[in-house]
Amino acid sequence: MLKNDQLDQWDRENFFHPSTHLAQHARGESPNRVIRTASGVHIEDRDGIRLLDAFAGLYCVNVGYGRQEIAEAIAAQAKELAYYHAYVGHGTEASITLAKMILDRAPANMSKVYFGLGGSDANETNVKLVWYYNNILGRPEKKKIISRWRGYHGSGLMTGSLTGLELFHKKFDLPLAQVIHTEAPYYYRRKDLAQSEAAFVAHCVAELEALIEREGADTIAAFIGEPVLGTGGIVPPPAGYWEAIQKVLKKHDILLIVDEVVTGFGRLGTMFGSDHYGIEADIITIAKGLTSAYAPLSGSIVSDRVWKVLEQGTDEYGAIGHGWTYSAHPIGAAAGVANLKLIDDLGLVKNAGEVGAYLKAQMSEALSDHPHVGDVRGEGMLCAVEFVEDKDSRRFFDPAKKIGPQVSSALLAQDKVIARAMPQGDILGFAPPFCLSKAEADQVVAATARAVKTVLG
Ligand SMILES: Cc1ncc(COP(=O)(O)O)c(C=O)c1O
Repeated sequence: MLKNDQLDQWDRENFFHPSTHLAQHARGESPNRVIRTASGVHIEDRDGIRLLDAFAGLYCVNVGYGRQEIAEAIAAQAKELAYYHAYVGHGTEASITLAKMILDRAPANMSKVYFGLGGSDANETNVKLVWYYNNILGRPEKKKIISRWRGYHGSGLMTGSLTGLELFHKKFDLPLAQVIHTEAPYYYRRKDLAQSEAAFVAHCVAELEALIEREGADTIAAFIGEPVLGTGGIVPPPAGYWEAIQKVLKKHDILLIVDEVVTGFGRLGTMFGSDHYGIEADIITIAKGLTSAYAPLSGSIVSDRVWKVLEQGTDEYGAIGHGWTYSAHPIGAAAGVANLKLIDDLGLVKNAGEVGAYLKAQMSEALSDHPHVGDVRGEGMLCAVEFVEDKDSRRFFDPAKKIGPQVSSALLAQDKVIARAMPQGDILGFAPPFCLSKAEADQVVAATARAVKTVLG
C-alpha cells in the first residue's frame, strides 16, 4: 500500500536510492518501506509491520539486529574519541585490537590488515596493491585481473568491472579493459547437461588456461573470486574446483584475491570460506560480517608474500600513496571488536553451520519435487532455490516473466518473510542472521513453499 504523507513525499522527492528503479520510485509507482527498528532476525517498519529478514539486510547483519553490546561499544567510542585518522602510523586502541583479532582468526599465512569502509573500496585497494606489487617486482606489464562471470565484487569503476553481472556493466561503459572474465563455477547451468561435476571442473580449468594462454601470463596480475558465488546466484563451487584453480594460478604466478565479504567471519560455518575450501589467498577481502553492519568497515588482509614486497616498495619509494580519511575509523573498529567478541561468546559460527544445514535440508525436502524447482543448494547459512520452466530439459523461464521477483513478493505479502530475488536468473536467495533458530528456519521454509505455490501452482 502506498502512503501519501510527508515522509513518503520527501523520500520520493529527495532520496536517490541505490539499486532502485529510479523513475518508478520517483513517480510513486513502487512501494517504499521505512524501517524503524529491529531485533534478532526481525525488522519492523514505521507502521508496526514486523518482517522476518531471511537475508540479514544485504547478507551483513550476521549477529542479528539490536545487539546492545555493539551499540554500547559504538556509543562509548563516540564519546571517548569519535575520530582520528590512521595516516603516518596513527591508530586507536580499537583499530589496533581489531587488526590483531582479525589476524588471530585468519588463515596462517596472513600478515597485516588495511581498513576501508565497504567491500567495493576494499577490492579497489586490492587491485592497487597487486599493481604496486608487480611494479615493485619490475613486471609493469603484469596487470590484468581475471574475474568470473557472475562474480560480485562491488559497483565502483574497477570493482563494477570485476563484477560479472550484466546489470552492473550496461550503460556504465564497464568493464574496464584491465579486467577479463572467465567461466562461473555454476554446475547447474553447465551447457552440456550430460557433463559430470568432475568434467565440469575440468572444463572451468581448461577455460581459465585458455584465457591465460590468449592474454599471456606475463600480463595477468591476479584472479579474484568469492569462495561461494553470492549475488551471482548463491552457488557453492563443484567439488575440487578451488584446488584445481589454485594449481593453474600457482603455475602462472598469478596472485589470488579471495573475496570473503559475504563468507568472512562465519557464514559458511567456518571462520573463513578459505578455511572451508582449503584456499590459500594472497589477499582476503572482508567487510559486512566484520561489524555485522553496525558501522561501515571493510578490510584487506594481506599475506606475508605480498606484505614483504609492499615493505620493499616503501623502502625504495617512500610512504605508500594510498589511504582514505576514514580508514580504520574508530567507531567502525569499536563495532568490529564488539561484534567479533559476540560471535565467539554466542558460538554463532557453529550455529550458522548447524542451522544453515538444517535450513537447506528442510528447503530441499519441501521444494525439490516441485515441477518448477530446478535446484535447491547452499552452504552454511546460505541457501538458494532456482526456478525453471521445464525441469527435465532445464529450460529457464523467460526473464520478462520475473518469476524470482514474483515469488519474493508473494513471500513478503503472504508471510512477511524477506528473501532476495537474485539479480540474474529466477533465483530466490536466503542468507539469514547466524542466530536463526530451527523454528524460524521452519517458518521460512513453510512460507517459501506457500509463495512458490501461489506463483507457480
Ligand atoms: C562478495 C562481495 N564483494 C564485494 C561487495 C561490495 O561490498 P559493498 O557493497 O560494501 O561495497 C559485496 C556486496 O554485496 C559482495 O557481496
